[in-house]
Amino acid sequence: MADIPDGELYPVPQRLLDPAQCPEPYISSLQQYKELYQQSIEQPDEFFGKLATDLLTWSKPFNRVRHGGFKYGDVAWFLDGRINASYNCVDRHAIENPKKVAIIYESDEPNQSENITYGQLLRDVCQLAGVLRAKGIRKGDTVAIYMPMIPEAVTAILACARIGALHSVVFAGFSAEALRDRVQDAQSRLVLTADQGRRGGKTIEIKKIVDEALKSCPMVETVLVCERTGADVPMTPGRDHWWSQEVSRTPTYLPPEEMHSEDPLFLLYTSGSTGKPKGVLHTTGGFLLGAAATVKYVFDYHPGDIFACMADVGWITGHTYIVYGPLALGATTVLFESIPTYPTPSRYWELIAKHKITQFYTAPTAIRALRRLGDEWVEGHDLSSLRVLGSVGEPINPEAWHWYNDKVGKGRCAIVDTYWQTETGSHIVTPLPGAIPTKAGSATLPFFGIELAILDPVTGKELTGNSVSGVLAVKRPWPSIARSIYGNHQRFLETYLRPYSGYYFTGDGASRDKDGYIWVGGRVDDVINVSGHRLSTAEIESALIVHHAVAETAVIGANDEVTGQCIHAFVCLKPGLASGHSRAFANDLTKELALQVRKVIGPFAAPKRIYLVEDLPKTRSGKLMRRILRKIVAGEADSLGDISTLADPSVVEALIAKVKSAA
Ligand code: WT7
Repeated sequence: MADIPDGELYPVPQRLLDPAQCPEPYISSLQQYKELYQQSIEQPDEFFGKLATDLLTWSKPFNRVRHGGFKYGDVAWFLDGRINASYNCVDRHAIENPKKVAIIYESDEPNQSENITYGQLLRDVCQLAGVLRAKGIRKGDTVAIYMPMIPEAVTAILACARIGALHSVVFAGFSAEALRDRVQDAQSRLVLTADQGRRGGKTIEIKKIVDEALKSCPMVETVLVCERTGADVPMTPGRDHWWSQEVSRTPTYLPPEEMHSEDPLFLLYTSGSTGKPKGVLHTTGGFLLGAAATVKYVFDYHPGDIFACMADVGWITGHTYIVYGPLALGATTVLFESIPTYPTPSRYWELIAKHKITQFYTAPTAIRALRRLGDEWVEGHDLSSLRVLGSVGEPINPEAWHWYNDKVGKGRCAIVDTYWQTETGSHIVTPLPGAIPTKAGSATLPFFGIELAILDPVTGKELTGNSVSGVLAVKRPWPSIARSIYGNHQRFLETYLRPYSGYYFTGDGASRDKDGYIWVGGRVDDVINVSGHRLSTAEIESALIVHHAVAETAVIGANDEVTGQCIHAFVCLKPGLASGHSRAFANDLTKELALQVRKVIGPFAAPKRIYLVEDLPKTRSGKLMRRILRKIVAGEADSLGDISTLADPSVVEALIAKVKSAA
């Protein structure tokens, strides 16, 4: 059995429990967490019924809390309730306190931040929702959003929710081809975008990418273009319209569409172990409850706090923790357009000091990158407003955890290492700031309502008790779990619910240590996690294979000090090109291949290393042995295990030499 990780326990910082210094945490002892957790499992109807009534406003109350389960994949929550997400995130706060700041927009250039109040947000959302209606968008339609990190991206999401259209946000780092695939899969008739984006002082040609993508999307009738830079971009007559012109002639109030709790709220594409990205589908009531409840309890959000999640709205983290969660609670949420190193590596810390941020949420990859640049960038900034520091996207290594805790949190903040996925909608394993002692590198204990199981990957048998290792699964539905894959429910069942019957399968390996703490190891499928971005090996391989020189490829994830994992691609060239080529030829080709991946998926998917090789390690039946490639790249060629099943064991020597010479 694999070694079970362990680490020292760090108590809740005393400052958080001192009423003179901090608001009293909602959950302020381990005992209290345990009691509530127990209740959430033993009396879920009472627990979640109360939570959903306390945190959300229903236009028609629900009588029934839960229905269905993993056996048939027919999960439903609050089924006869009616609710609108935009009403919950905007109207009810605008009515109570229209002057309260909803969004602090911190633009790419540090001196151009802007505040948007709840009153303003309501007008913006209503106007855009009105435009969508006028363009023929109705409840159940999908709308693609391909936008930079500007307030209009939030407006776009909420305007869709207001009229019951499903938003499908595509991260603006995806290429035209990736955008095209997503627009086609969702059959979106309308695209919300911007002229250009600004990031780290650079301009991103957003509209050009949209134009390229839409060449093969005849179903798109309307494109609304938000003026981020005011650049003169080509507009297709009849199809493209300027955002500001359209909204300016639309009324500033539009009633929200009354939605059933289980009506779809959005889809969001993510990578699985096969080539084609899947549109993960979330529904309204349950998703919103998961978002609101975790902002309240995991970030211990109190009225007056300034909540800052550094993710992009194009990923689930942005959906749940920039938009829906904080706004559902009426919080002030920070929308950060830039990067941690622009104009200097002090940007995050200046941001925190400037806006007196109380909860700060980022990814281990950013923490590692900043740590490497030196402590001087974080020193001398007033970070005293901080109470909770969150980490998300991949396991956080103890070095990064300690740096975050000591240098940023000054030992006075809670560190919450939050484990979750696009499919889980909100955190499922995480510390609670005032209640759960932490261990550097462990996501600690399950959130309310999450009944975890560690399964033997081969037999599927549940490994009970502590000090066990296996794959991570969940035994029963919780409100914010995804309900389906857009247009392919069968695939949903096969990916998540069939591998281990009766369980939701996360795809991650995990251990439960001697104290019952969860340590997530990483994916056990062919998914690679680069800087918290999820990619499938098959997706990258199919991008490479399109190149005319390529006969065959094998892509693997290797460890990387900054990005967590990075991509290494082994490429076999077509006969005739395979051997005897010059170094210059190889160099050019490698560049072309990297470009190819950027073109098909996006810049963030570019391989770190590309090896042009003669042969790949395969069994006699032709099965590719990725395990061998992983070992070679990791420098563990001396422990390859049994290679006698390979069709040609001599390829291994050649691969080792190739990888060595490239290092
Ligand atoms: C995968 C989900 C929803 C978060 C953003 C990424 C990995 C995420 C942690 C963590 C260890 C983590 C898992 C998971 N992951 N958070 N705290 N510790 N691993 O969402 O793109 O859906 O990726 O990210 O491997 O399965 P995603």
